[in-house]
Amino acid sequence: MDGRNFILKGDICYSKTRTSLATAEQSFLVCAEGKSAGVFSQVSQIPLPYRAFPYIDHTGKLIIPGLVDLHIHAPQFAFRSLGMDLELLDWLETRAFPEEAKYQDTGYALRAYTALVKDLQQGPNTRICLFGTVHVPATLLLMELLENSGLVCMAGKVNMDRNSPDTLREQDAACSVAATREWLERCGTYTRCKPILTPRFIPSCTDELLRGLSEIQQQYNLPLQSHLSENLKEIAWVQALCPQSSCYGDAYTRFNLFGGPVPTIMAHCVYSGNEEIALMQRQGVHVAHCPQSNMNLSSGIAPVRRYLEAGLSVGLGSDVAGGAHTSMFRAMTDAIGVSKLRRCTGTGAEAPLTLEEVFYLGTQGGGSFFGQVGSFEAGYEFDALVMEDPHPVPPFPLSLRERLERIVGCSDERDILEKYVQGILLPR
Ligand code: GUN
Ligand code: FE
Repeated sequence: MDGRNFILKGDICYSKTRTSLATAEQSFLVCAEGKSAGVFSQVSQIPLPYRAFPYIDHTGKLIIPGLVDLHIHAPQFAFRSLGMDLELLDWLETRAFPEEAKYQDTGYALRAYTALVKDLQQGPNTRICLFGTVHVPATLLLMELLENSGLVCMAGKVNMDRNSPDTLREQDAACSVAATREWLERCGTYTRCKPILTPRFIPSCTDELLRGLSEIQQQYNLPLQSHLSENLKEIAWVQALCPQSSCYGDAYTRFNLFGGPVPTIMAHCVYSGNEEIALMQRQGVHVAHCPQSNMNLSSGIAPVRRYLEAGLSVGLGSDVAGGAHTSMFRAMTDAIGVSKLRRCTGTGAEAPLTLEEVFYLGTQGGGSFFGQVGSFEAGYEFDALVMEDPHPVPPFPLSLRERLERIVGCSDERDILEKYVQGILLPR
């Protein structure tokens, strides 16, 4: 029998929609060939073909979907929490770029990326989209470590041919394009860690480079990740660099690198206005909301509820090292926190986000970039966490929703008992 056929029993929580959280106590979650076949409250309700599957009893434990980080910088993990008194552009110059330059040395990359991947294996995320650096060998190494971790990831060799130090910047557009092709030729055998095109952001990429990446995108049919409207000084810089574009998103659109047939994640979107929102909506661009980073780099507070109400696909990102924490539980907590600050400081009038909404963002919302991921509705890929209630457990009864609230707010990796990705139990 396929090892990916089994039943978990426990207290099960998952999003059905943005506002609807399903809670099923003492219930049965069926995994059939690596996909959820649904949640059933009685054995007698489990469809016959599945009823004989091996059965794992997690009575009293919570079972929730694996979490999805749509935006993290792998080479920044080593210096998280440093330089947090700086704003974005100064932090990039003084902290991020000099550190990323070190990944020219594959020995350094191996040490640093091994530590990152270990952290990701221990944590609650099961799907992750990562930026590497400009370096082909270091990015291949990162992908190999991720491939062997059991997580399902997309990782990108970063492109940058302007406005960065000589130690990091690629020589010109042709060199960057050639290195990207070499990287793509060499990472073709991975099955769990797939390549994603990664122009850093408009200030780092010449028009010639973006044209070259668009050709590569079409040839290889690749998804794409980048940054958008994160910080006011950055936005003014993009406007100065691309005076002909009507908004930041339009600067990507001119090179066919803003959604449409290209599955695209844009991180931050703190200041996207009506035109940019309409463009993202029309082109199906996914937003990675990174609340901790937006606080740490004093970027601002993204109007997430506006995006949700406009029908945009939104997920969460750690943006390490803008954020210091890889766990999407932390991102959920911060997403609620900043949405309250947005309202009470008069930054925006939208109602704050709810537990249901941020749990959705960190599971099904972000998961949609990977397909049918982030829920236990039948047909979804089977990514699951079996969790202990964080200790000490309060001396009063808790509803299942309240237990989930505590997991989101105060669990840590010690509370993760099991982690499944596509129906495979990862070693812990
Ligand atoms: N914009 C361009 N590069 C970066 C980066 O490394 N981090 C963040 N937060 N924003 C960026
Ligand atoms: Fe980022």
